[in-house]
Amino acid sequence: MGEVNPGGMPQGRGQETENLIPGVKDVIAVSSGKGGVGKSTVSVNLAVALALTDAKVGLLDADIYGPNIPMMMGVTKPPEQKDGKIVPAESHGVKLISMGFFVPEDTAVVWRGPMVHTAIQQLFRDVLWGELDYLLIDLPPGTGDAQLTLTQLVPLTGAVTVTTPQEVALHDVRKGMMMFQKVNVPLLGIVENMGYFLCPHCGGRTEIFSCGGGERAAEKLGIPFLGRIPIDPAIRAGGDTGLPIVVANPESRPAMAFKDIAAKLAAKICSPAGEGQSVPRIESLLKKIKKPVSAG
Ligand SMILES: Nc1ncnc2c1ncn2[C@@H]1O[C@H](COP(=O)(O)OP(=O)(O)O)[C@@H](O)[C@H]1O
Ligand SMILES: [Mg+2]
Ligand SMILES: [Zn+2]
Repeated sequence: MGEVNPGGMPQGRGQETENLIPGVKDVIAVSSGKGGVGKSTVSVNLAVALALTDAKVGLLDADIYGPNIPMMMGVTKPPEQKDGKIVPAESHGVKLISMGFFVPEDTAVVWRGPMVHTAIQQLFRDVLWGELDYLLIDLPPGTGDAQLTLTQLVPLTGAVTVTTPQEVALHDVRKGMMMFQKVNVPLLGIVENMGYFLCPHCGGRTEIFSCGGGERAAEKLGIPFLGRIPIDPAIRAGGDTGLPIVVANPESRPAMAFKDIAAKLAAKICSPAGEGQSVPRIESLLKKIKKPVSAG
């Protein structure tokens, strides 16, 4: 754990905001420009992969519009309480709290800004997170109240963005990144999901969209590229059965891809200020981001 915002303006770490989770070393937001790109799948597998390295890991499902992390982690029981606080559930070595525990299923909740703020605040303040090396936060897609609230409530180490490689998804990535930049949250990197398919029969590789779009976008925006995850029925099955592929089949290609990304992420967070892979500074990023991103 180290400083990853060397050149940026004060963003957090207890500077102008009260830190609601002082026992947590690094808070990582997992975001996406749009829904359905695999943000939750990536959050779950990265959290479990980090826990496999003996790190203490928490996962906060703050996707108020579609909190599905409990299912993906195989947690069915609501969390317990202790001295008026909520004890996180635990699964695959990861402490877990989801908005889904508190909001009845199938309720179409219309969230207004202040409600979002209060709800997310409670997920920090009222939960016994304890000492953690990493707390990953699965955010709702896009750039709404949840993102802003988060940056006000806890010092974020940085944001990871998940995207598919299509042009339309990449456009939204750029918007999301700009929002984080405005509030001086370091951009830890882009994960490209579902860009290619490895045939289980012949091992052949099929590019589903324009594979590599995530990497090209990262390059143009000056954001680190963390890696790509193939589209694989086993990844989907892992999510449906509550057994993430990283534990269900740890030596498989997709599991290795997740573990590799987790390792890169951990290294990025650890790397001291100014060294090789440190997070790009805001000014240079803003210059780069003005031009539209194209995958070509
Ligand atoms: N790499 C992948 N290969 C196969 N299925 C995937 C992959 N990533 C995600 N999925 C599936 O796609 C659907 C949407 O993923 P999810 O993680 O819920 O997206 P998001 O959180 O961005 O809305 C889920 O059914 C999930 O299992
Ligand atoms: Mg999701
Ligand atoms: Zn084949």
